[in-house]
Amino acid sequence: MSRVRRPKITLRAAELDDAAAVAALYVDPGVFGSVLQLPYPRESYWRERLDSRDPDNLNLLALIGDQIVGHGHLGRPQPHARRRHVGAIGIAVGPAHQRRGIGDALMTALIERAERWMQMTRLELEVYVDNAAAIALYRKHGFVEEGRMRAYAFRDGQHVDALGMARVRQ
Ligand SMILES: CC(C)(COP(=O)(O)OP(=O)(O)OC[C@H]1O[C@@H](n2cnc3c(N)ncnc32)[C@H](O)[C@@H]1OP(=O)(O)O)[C@@H](O)C(=O)NCCC(=O)NCCS
Repeated sequence: MSRVRRPKITLRAAELDDAAAVAALYVDPGVFGSVLQLPYPRESYWRERLDSRDPDNLNLLALIGDQIVGHGHLGRPQPHARRRHVGAIGIAVGPAHQRRGIGDALMTALIERAERWMQMTRLELEVYVDNAAAIALYRKHGFVEEGRMRAYAFRDGQHVDALGMARVRQ
């Protein structure tokens, strides 16, 4: 799929009332299947996730006009004192809006928040080995493959391997 024109994208933190629009981003099997979500995403599930008062958690939305077209998450993978420098990132863009720079914009903003404002120097994520688009996005933003996790998750009738990737700021 080649890139089409780049629309004007705005970014903002999600509010509780965005839950239905965020759930709608995860309806497509190409989206929920590429992360750890299940079919039939629920607004109430997303409402609960967006309700986090923890300032370490950011649910960032990408909009074209007033339409929510992408969602990124930055959080801490574990609460350990000695892993306070570590952040975890996840990203999803609606199928109709992929390949238009939205993943780039979300990733740039999440990295900036993590590294310039939260003292996170190691950012981690997991990605299925066959998700070429996401792997290319992560490499472009300085993430490096660190290992392969076999049978990491069950997806559409089969277990699938995942890569652990991280970006480390020295
Ligand atoms: C992966 C995903 C987030 C990329 O978002 P996007 O908005 O389409 O990506 P962008 O248009 O910003 O592209 C940014 C970079 O990603 C890479 N990329 C994105 N889509 C690609 C594709 N189909 N093939 C190859 N590289 C791709 C490229 O390096 C691209 O940079 P370039 O335009 O300079 O070549 C999006 O495809 C998606 O949400 N997929 C479903 C959910 C998912 O897989 N999430 C990640 C789970 S780990």
